[in-house]
Amino acid sequence: MSIRAATLNGVATIEIARPEKKNALTAAMYQAMADALVAAKADPAVRAVLITGQPGIFTSGNDIEDFVQRAPGQGSEALDSPVFRFMRALLDCDKPVVAAVTGAAIGIGTTMLLHCDFAYVSDEARLAMPFVGLGLLPEFASSLLLPQLMGQTRAAEKLLLGDPFTGADAVECGLANAVLPAGEVVSHARRVAERFNALPPGAVREAKRLLRAPHTEAILNTIRTEAEMFAARLRSPEAMEAFQAFFQKRKPDFSKF
Ligand code: COA
Repeated sequence: MSIRAATLNGVATIEIARPEKKNALTAAMYQAMADALVAAKADPAVRAVLITGQPGIFTSGNDIEDFVQRAPGQGSEALDSPVFRFMRALLDCDKPVVAAVTGAAIGIGTTMLLHCDFAYVSDEARLAMPFVGLGLLPEFASSLLLPQLMGQTRAAEKLLLGDPFTGADAVECGLANAVLPAGEVVSHARRVAERFNALPPGAVREAKRLLRAPHTEAILNTIRTEAEMFAARLRSPEAMEAFQAFFQKRKPDFSKF
C-alpha cells in the first residue's frame, strides 16, 4: 500500500509513500486518502490532519499511466472517481488540515494546498502546475483560487506557462505559511497540527467553516466546470502527445496542432 494512514497524539497522518514513482498518485491511492480523511473527520480523537510525503518528494501528481489507463469519465462518473472523492473529502474535512510539503509538489500536489488550512514547505521543494503543457487544464478550483490568491498575472505564469516555483515564492504569494529546512518540515507541521489538541474543537470547526463559507459555492461550481473540461482534455490528441512524450522521455511536439 502506498498510502500510510495512522493516528498519533490527536493527529491523523496521511503519508504518501511511493518513492520509486516519485509519489505519483494512482486511483487506489486517492481512494485510500479519501477513506483516511473521512475516518479522521468521524473520529473524535482526531483534532487535526497532517498530509505528508517522502524526503525530497511530496508528490509528482497524478500517475500519468493512470491518466491513460483509467481516465475519469465525464459527467457524474467523473464526479464519483477516486480523485474527486479525495478532493471532496478534503473540502468536506471540518478539522484543520496541515500539509508538510517534503519536496517536489507537482500538479495536484500543489492544487491540494489550496484546500489545506496550513502548508509548510521544504527549502528543497519545487512546486508546479504543468497542466497546460500536458494538454490539460487547471483543476479543483485552482482557476478560481489561484488568481484570487496572487493576482491574474502571477497565476498566469503558474497556470498558463506551468512555471515551477520555490517554497519561498509559495509563501510570498500566500499559498504556504513558511519554508523550513528539509529535515524539519514534517516535525514543524506536526507541531502545528498538535496545537489543536489544546484548542476547543467546536470553535475550531466553526471558525474553519466561516473562513471557507463565502467561497464554497463558487468553488464547487468551478470544480464541476473544470472537471467536465478536464475529462474531455484527457482524451484530446494534445494530451496523448504529452503523455507519449513523458513515457518516451522526450519533449512533446505540439507543432502539428
Ligand atoms: N506518473 C507516473 N510516473 C511518474 C510520475 C507521474 N506523475 N512522475 C514520475 N514518475 C516515474 C518516472 O516515469 C520514473 O519511472 P521509471 O523509473 O520507471 O522510469 C520514476 O517515477 C522516477 O521519475 P524521474 O522522472 O526519473 O525522477 P526525477 O527525479 O528525474 O524527476 C519529477 C522527478 C517529479 C520532476 C519528474 O518525475 C516529473 O516531472 N514527473 C511528472 C510530473 C507531472 O507532469 N505530473 C503530472 C501533473 S498533472
